[in-house]
Amino acid sequence: MAIIFHEKGREFHLFNKEVSYLMRIMENGQMEHLYYGRGLRDKEEFGYLHEEMQRSLMAVCMPEPSVLSMQYTRQEYPSYGTGDYRSPAFTIIQENGSRIVNFTYVSHEIFGGKKSLAPLPATYTEKEEEAQTLEITLHDDVIDTDMVLSYTIYEDYPVITRNVRFVHRGGGKIVLDRALSMSMEFMDMDYELVHLAGAWARERYVKTRKLEMGIQAVQNLSGTGSSGEHNPFIALKRPHTTENQGEVYGFSFVYSGNFLAQVEVSPFDMTRVMMGIHPEGFAWELKQGESFQTPETVMVYSNRGLNGMSQAYHRLYRTRLIRGKWRDQARPILLNNWEATYFDFDEEKLLEIAKRAKEAGVELFVLDDGWFGKRNDDYSSLGDWYVNLKKLPGGISGLSAKIEALEMKFGLWVELEMVNEDSDLYRAHPDWIIGAPGRFQSHGRHQYVLDFSRKEVVDCVYEMIARVIRESSISYIKWDMNRYMSEPYSRGAEAGEQGKVMHRYILGVYDLYTRLTEEFPDILFESCASGGARFDPGMLYFAPQTWTSDDTDAGERMKIQYGTSFVYPLVSMGCHVSAVPNHQLQRMTPLETRGNVACFGAFGYELDLNLLSGREMEVVKRQIAFVKKYRELIQIEGDFYRLRSPFEGNDTAWLVVSRDRTQAVAGFYQRLNKTNASWLRLQLQGLEEDMLYEVSCDVTPVSIYDEERAGLDGNGQEKEQVKKYRAYGAELMYAGIPVDRRDLDRKGGDFASLIYTITKCI
Ligand code: GLA
Repeated sequence: MAIIFHEKGREFHLFNKEVSYLMRIMENGQMEHLYYGRGLRDKEEFGYLHEEMQRSLMAVCMPEPSVLSMQYTRQEYPSYGTGDYRSPAFTIIQENGSRIVNFTYVSHEIFGGKKSLAPLPATYTEKEEEAQTLEITLHDDVIDTDMVLSYTIYEDYPVITRNVRFVHRGGGKIVLDRALSMSMEFMDMDYELVHLAGAWARERYVKTRKLEMGIQAVQNLSGTGSSGEHNPFIALKRPHTTENQGEVYGFSFVYSGNFLAQVEVSPFDMTRVMMGIHPEGFAWELKQGESFQTPETVMVYSNRGLNGMSQAYHRLYRTRLIRGKWRDQARPILLNNWEATYFDFDEEKLLEIAKRAKEAGVELFVLDDGWFGKRNDDYSSLGDWYVNLKKLPGGISGLSAKIEALEMKFGLWVELEMVNEDSDLYRAHPDWIIGAPGRFQSHGRHQYVLDFSRKEVVDCVYEMIARVIRESSISYIKWDMNRYMSEPYSRGAEAGEQGKVMHRYILGVYDLYTRLTEEFPDILFESCASGGARFDPGMLYFAPQTWTSDDTDAGERMKIQYGTSFVYPLVSMGCHVSAVPNHQLQRMTPLETRGNVACFGAFGYELDLNLLSGREMEVVKRQIAFVKKYRELIQIEGDFYRLRSPFEGNDTAWLVVSRDRTQAVAGFYQRLNKTNASWLRLQLQGLEEDMLYEVSCDVTPVSIYDEERAGLDGNGQEKEQVKKYRAYGAELMYAGIPVDRRDLDRKGGDFASLIYTITKCI
């Protein structure tokens, strides 16, 4: 890995084993992009990659005879008002109303490692040798402002990260009206745009569309959430790129608020990708000496298909974005009481659920919504973070002690950014909510968004919740957020500061996370937002796992987890087994399949195990034993491969392979069962061709765990059955595993699944 500046052509080359990124200082002092893609051998000059020619209607930015035009140049970070009529990456409004700027190269610095962007989340290095950073300082003389373009390349990942910093040195004021984190240009438009879109209970479905001339974008303007509707991620792939081969470029935004991810294709087929804080509602005034730091974009290049891209994100985010005690640890198996009780619980009921969970092998009991104020439904008490002694006479401290006496850890739900009108906090501070005076204030789930752009609000909430945590023994916190910011306005900010409110709100959230994670470093945080409405890299920096979706149906989860895995590592996805009929869509799926889907994530239960039959409890115990055996591999060590897409057919399949390729676990899932159907082969990936493996698959019929079925069809005599055989890696990858449809019948037919464990023979 290296970052080299070639004096002669004034070119920068960032490269490692897998990727190269080239740019140069143009004759007009601005920066031009030359190449980004598969690694190139470094050499003195790449200037031939710059092309120019006279075209009609062209604005030339240098004296004649030059024909340098910004309209046809691939700019590193394009500005408005240069004769380039495409969207700019930034706009600065000056005191005279002008938006015309000219940032030209002044200097650059190359150093080992990577600077922190705190208070913003960002990827990091542990040792300087892991990465190199290039900072290019450009300057606009008229407004006396610096712009620092920052690039980091990692040694071991096909990753380049980017961010931009503005430093205003001049006397007058300037307003950043748009300040995206990166811009990137490709020479042609032969790409498909891949993005993750959805809504509550169907988050992060994979969407793919061909690029066309003009603008296509995904965005979020909800203020508090980042990702239920559109995740802050896009990829450009070649049309023939598949999961396992071909080129793809990923762009992932390390931020939890409003974002814009835009692709603009020019009439000359040039493709400009931009990503950053959404300009709508954003305006950041800078006085002399002030600066503005954009969040980070993480770019991944893969020529090993979408799986190659995802594996790079998984490894980087798992080890160099997630931080703290839990980064390298497999996660405890938890039971959350939400779908078991909703608001209707008392201490006795919770302890009954917890005891049964302990019996099954669960390690962490989580108390969800309803423990505070006088909250028995969702109309009241958000903001009143003190325990409801009617429900829990011993308080949270008493309950947590009783749970710990059962030899389980205790976890708690909170929703710190919100307030109900019916709460002591709202009665004391009605002006602490986000909303415009004299305007109708929308409510959502009967609650309002607290104005986290104000420090006094964050301070107050911090004090309330830190007291509860200090008094009790809490090992896990689920931090929920259940409504968006509908009328963004802060009563705590001047008129000229309103354009800062939405960004400051997210900084307030990050600030509270920082304070709580610093004071309580051992607590495992799980972020949540009506399920998966804030599943983004910014959150992962503070909370190493996220509740993936409120939809816990196994069939739906195949899609949601499949889409989420495009960017996010399995360990970051909270995945629970819940009851049937499923509470979100009334579907029946086999208990085994619910476990087989959830075990490819941070595993848990979301039901009252007391309501299961003795035979079902046996299944649960087996699931827990399986997770305990394989969670290190699945969550921490392994590489994940998507094999069959639930968006393309009846089947879903995926696989985790250990880094040394000696162990793997594959999941095969079907939606509807088929009779007298064709043969089925599952080709694996990532194994060692010449390694001999033992393949093992539990094909025990579900009827032996299902009392009703056993009674009805007289199959009670059936025994546990495991199929085993030996095969070389090459066989498993190229010939494939024969998936026996009779096994799928035995596993319940519709929504049946099979798990294959593949272990090197000794
Ligand atoms: C949200 C979460 C759920 C649950 C409820 C509690 O919807 O996504 O998991 O915690 O809130 O009100």
